[in-house]
Amino acid sequence: MTVIDTAVPTTTHPFHTTREEERRLRVAAERMVPALTIAQPVSFDGFVQQLMVPPAVMDLARKAHGLRLSVQETEAIRHHLRPVESGKKPGLLRRILMDKAKEDGSHPPYIRVACTGKGTYDHWAKDDYLAVYVPPSGDFGSPAVLEIWPAQHYSPIHSHGHTTGIIHCLTGQLDIMAYGSLAWNAEKMGLYTLTPGQTAWLAGDTFAVHKVYCPFDGGTTTATGPGYLNKSDQFAASFHVYLNDTELSTYSGLDPSRDRFHYIDETDHTEKVFTTYSDLSWHVLAQILAQTELD
Ligand SMILES: [Fe+2]
Repeated sequence: MTVIDTAVPTTTHPFHTTREEERRLRVAAERMVPALTIAQPVSFDGFVQQLMVPPAVMDLARKAHGLRLSVQETEAIRHHLRPVESGKKPGLLRRILMDKAKEDGSHPPYIRVACTGKGTYDHWAKDDYLAVYVPPSGDFGSPAVLEIWPAQHYSPIHSHGHTTGIIHCLTGQLDIMAYGSLAWNAEKMGLYTLTPGQTAWLAGDTFAVHKVYCPFDGGTTTATGPGYLNKSDQFAASFHVYLNDTELSTYSGLDPSRDRFHYIDETDHTEKVFTTYSDLSWHVLAQILAQTELD
């Protein structure tokens, strides 16, 4: 008997799947060899899944394992993401979201924070939040990035090229769809929900193409999609490391690729290039979060 899934239309953002497809993709993600996430195996099948996870990735995951946001950092991020209230000035992160949404409405914005180097909006911190401002040194294209995902916001399908890296969930939940190639109609390989303390990875062609989505309540009656900006202070945060081939002991001579990632535009479905500028430097954001008075 054919089961017709009428619960979710196929055009639903961000993954464009029916419930039956989503169930199948979640099962596929659990069975992948090598495994999509790094874990201590408890069965022989689990051991086989972990066996081919590259040593460079295991090393990154081990180093990132204990990373968390403090309660002050988490609640201060929530404070700065809060939707605009009448008569009150929006927080720094909400202002950045609003500016990014104006610049590019093809997908709901998320925030990149460079753990080394500088960010595009650092000067806003200088102007409005910090009495003493020391400009961050270094350049754009940080190998370590904190990403802040507002509820119901998501990335386009994008590729991390030839980099080797990890995605370590710090707080909240993130749905990650892995794709077989970089194209609007690319084959969906698996869907996984990353929770705090869990680490996904990518290396070379393996898991290089994905889309990331925060499934929490966006506080609106309208569904997410291009042009969407939520009315919620809920979010997820993840710590990302991307190493160029030249930074690995196994350097094979390929060009460094961290400075520019390729993605599929959500509105015209064509491939474009994203220069990996960050929005803020952690050096700046950490000072602001520490000084934020919570309600
Ligand atoms: Fe990514």
